[in-house]
Amino acid sequence: FPTDDPAVVTCGLPYANGDLHIGHLRTYVGGDVYSRALERLGQETAFVSGSDMHGTPVAVNAEQAGVSPEEFALDWHEQYAETFPEFNVDFDNYGHTHDETNTEVTQQLVRDLDEGGHLYEKEIMVAYDPVDDQFLPDRYVEGTCPYCGAHARGDECDEGCQRHLEPGEIEDPESTITGNPAEYRERTHQFFAVSEFADYLTEFLDRLEGTSNARNQPREWIEQGLQDWCITRDMDWGIDFPGGEATESPREGGEAADSRDLVLYVWVDAPIEYISSTKQYSERVGADAFDWEAAWKEGASDEHPEGGEIVHVIGRDIIQHHTIFWPAMLEATDHAEPRAVMASGFVTLGGKGFSTSRDRAVWADEYLDEGFHPDPLRYYLATNGGFQQDVDFSWEKFAERVNTELVGTVGNFLYRSLLFAHRNYEDGPDADAPSDEVAARIDEAVEEFAAAVNGYSVRALGDAVTDLARYGNEYIQRNEPWKLVDEEPAEAERVIYDCVALAKAIAVCFEPLAPEKSERLWDQLGEPGSVHDATVEAAREG
Ligand code: 2FM
Ligand code: ZN
Repeated sequence: FPTDDPAVVTCGLPYANGDLHIGHLRTYVGGDVYSRALERLGQETAFVSGSDMHGTPVAVNAEQAGVSPEEFALDWHEQYAETFPEFNVDFDNYGHTHDETNTEVTQQLVRDLDEGGHLYEKEIMVAYDPVDDQFLPDRYVEGTCPYCGAHARGDECDEGCQRHLEPGEIEDPESTITGNPAEYRERTHQFFAVSEFADYLTEFLDRLEGTSNARNQPREWIEQGLQDWCITRDMDWGIDFPGGEATESPREGGEAADSRDLVLYVWVDAPIEYISSTKQYSERVGADAFDWEAAWKEGASDEHPEGGEIVHVIGRDIIQHHTIFWPAMLEATDHAEPRAVMASGFVTLGGKGFSTSRDRAVWADEYLDEGFHPDPLRYYLATNGGFQQDVDFSWEKFAERVNTELVGTVGNFLYRSLLFAHRNYEDGPDADAPSDEVAARIDEAVEEFAAAVNGYSVRALGDAVTDLARYGNEYIQRNEPWKLVDEEPAEAERVIYDCVALAKAIAVCFEPLAPEKSERLWDQLGEPGSVHDATVEAAREG
């Protein structure tokens, strides 16, 4: 990076089913930081996501709340759309999986899979509650993981080996809603022949950039043998499997269903929202400003025959979906191949995972209600440990890093330099260019910044800035302009000009991590326009 192709940075879609906490924010801040950093390098970039409206994670919670899944999910969706900007997580488009665009794009992509010969029907055993007369897809059923023996829910071993579980795999199934022991019944479902893509996926993983966890885990899964993937469910809530409308209430048992009475598995239409959301963005700004087809489709544009630079930012619990199922879907339908997957570690509290039911979390709203500014949290979440490491959140560590790094190093340098400049030079210190020493140091920071982007390290972006500010403090201390100002005024002005040039470079390089504070700095420096449109070239100009 930068390249001549359009980039799309995506963040994993949050299920529209509950409050956001800072564990969620780590991924969204990471994606936002990364997409801003690409833009600062001059890369054309769209940053998109949306709410994940379908599936049992929404349906089960809506049922418990006594409202329809649509009403339930839309409420949460609206709340997320308001919350993200409050943390300066600024999507170019934030849609949702239940809208018209995603319904159309999803059904078309599934038809393409079908026409390409990648889908087939199969009879399988699915969990069923005989007392309640209900099928129990995914989170409607709990039991034991057949791979590791941990307690697991429907489609994922979330407390154990993190594997995706196919319908029928879970042992000792019970209904989540009634607690009734479930039995298995035969149903016809649609399958995507993922196993045909094993060779492709092996090579894809060799090319895949991003964090190493996103390559290593899937390699093991492929070696163990890929299973085909059941892409339909016995549910009402979701996008209909294309080809026919539901003719009966599909979750009611009894007769073997025609496969066309089914909805798509939530994990089919969720990642497709990455495409749909980009499409909505293009439709809003015009294809000249951003061409979603050039970015997503192979061969749609002569200038970008392979499509664009797709970067997925996700939590590490959904690596399998983004490195196996999703790239296989893209490959089967002539879409661009993801260039990178950045999979973040979890955020824990006192060493334990966040838990909504135990109210063990730092909630997004709670952070803002305390009166804290979003930028320090962004800085802390993005730079505390490598992106793939788990982070144990503590207010003490948060305070310490804010005080030493943001206040003591960056803030201190900016305050000393700008106050001195403001007091002594009405129109700012004047010089043609920064000194060779400072120009070289700024170049070095810009190189570090570019290396951080190309190494997919949001943490290293922070280091580039704090190192530069540390140098600035050392530079001003060594040159003591306050002593020079009377006897060697020209030399004092040169030193302060250098410091202001360093401050400008900090504004540009810090924009991804601290967008609001960097904009304020940009204004204080009297720079024209917005730092959100500046590139690292402006940092080099002085
Ligand atoms: O695990 C989850 O929270 C899912 N809602 C993530 C979906 S990401 C994607 F593929 F869209
Ligand atoms: Zn398991």
